[in-house]
Amino acid sequence: MSDQKFLSFPKDFTWGVATSSYQIEGAWSEDGRGLSIWDTFSRTPGKTYKGENGDTAADHYHRWKDDIEIMKSLGLQAYRFSIAWPRIQPIGKGEPNQAGLDFYDRLVDALLEAGIEPFPTLYHWDLPQALQDEGGWENRETASYFADYVSIVAKKLGDRVSKWITHNEPWVMAMLGHLFGQHAPGMQDPYAAGKAVHYLLLSHGYAVDALREDSQPGAQIGITLNLSPVYPYSGSNEDLLAAERLDTMLNKIFLDPLICGLYPENMSSMFAAFLPEILPGDMEIIARPIDFLGVNYYNRTVAQYNPDFPVVQAEPVNPEGNEYSQMWEIYPEGLFDLLERIHKDYHPETIYVTENGICVPDGVDFDNRVRDYRRIDYLQSHIAQVHRTIQAGIPIKGYMVWSLLDNFEWAYGYQMRFGLVYVDFDNQKRIIKDSGTWYGKVIENNGVSVAEK
Ligand code: GCO
Repeated sequence: MSDQKFLSFPKDFTWGVATSSYQIEGAWSEDGRGLSIWDTFSRTPGKTYKGENGDTAADHYHRWKDDIEIMKSLGLQAYRFSIAWPRIQPIGKGEPNQAGLDFYDRLVDALLEAGIEPFPTLYHWDLPQALQDEGGWENRETASYFADYVSIVAKKLGDRVSKWITHNEPWVMAMLGHLFGQHAPGMQDPYAAGKAVHYLLLSHGYAVDALREDSQPGAQIGITLNLSPVYPYSGSNEDLLAAERLDTMLNKIFLDPLICGLYPENMSSMFAAFLPEILPGDMEIIARPIDFLGVNYYNRTVAQYNPDFPVVQAEPVNPEGNEYSQMWEIYPEGLFDLLERIHKDYHPETIYVTENGICVPDGVDFDNRVRDYRRIDYLQSHIAQVHRTIQAGIPIKGYMVWSLLDNFEWAYGYQMRFGLVYVDFDNQKRIIKDSGTWYGKVIENNGVSVAEK
């Protein structure tokens, strides 16, 4: 047995998990919930694996009490979930749906009762379809409707919720949803993507104002971005420039406006032409001061020059030599490199790792256990990098595993399992995987043991 060392975390470090409404709730047409763009997209032939959808998902809408009991048994300190806009305003505007508000009201109360901090995300991609019918994120008005929705939620929950996340991964919403067509609403139009980038950012700024106004004084507000450190495939000039361009289009395109109030300089030659008209005051609204930055990290990006690659002439490639999951390369050091760069270039007051996890083909053994050792290895190595980051003086205050439950992995349907808890989608039975038990010990010990290098 190699020597082990224990990495101890600060006393006030927060350990949590993350989920999202469309991926776990189900009850797609219950209690007044309106249609979302993901209900439409997943019903469109060919868009999701085997046409799978979130109609039932992990049935969290009915099983939330049991799921909170599981969270409590693991000793979780925070639960990042998302609020479904179509439950709150079925057509995205107008009078709130009381049953929808009541669901999240009960959820927040039960979390607090269980000693778990609620960490709601206000938008995790399930736009009301009625707003999409009016242009969705291509329509500047949607940014204002978003602020109205946020205000309704803040007035209802703001006396008990003290940490808010406005958006989850606006890059995915804008690019996979409007440029690459792999996510709802399934568009492939750079001008639509440019409008979505700008109006999602604008809606974030409006939402910050609404939360400052309608949530409890001192509430902390942030946004969650999917970010990935970009490395050149080789030391050639072409690859170095390719990495720079991909870094702009993956990371700076959102970090710069949010933190610096400007779109990245070198975006002009790639994407700026697709942005809509930027009205006076827009950038100041987008760059409203926030209290924390949420970072979702899964893997790094390696960029190789490819003149045929649209917009960036830089192709993300999969280098040899490391382990891969069903979706990505496993590269723990990338988390440190990413957080170090964010700290150096953007110096946010506080950072939370709001998602980190891995999908591996989990199976239930004869004794009803799920021996997901690869997930334990992945989480252990990434938590060790978070510890390294804290040691480097970078203000990381918490870490959330994606995800609590196996869930609907968007276009991949249910074939990708990310949960610390196994869900048998035939009968909705939950089994805490070995990784869930292991994570409970990490929380109990406030740290993790790793092999001495
Ligand atoms: C994301 C989303 C999650 C995904 C997870 C695994 O970061 O893409 O927040 O909804 O399910 O990341 O891909």
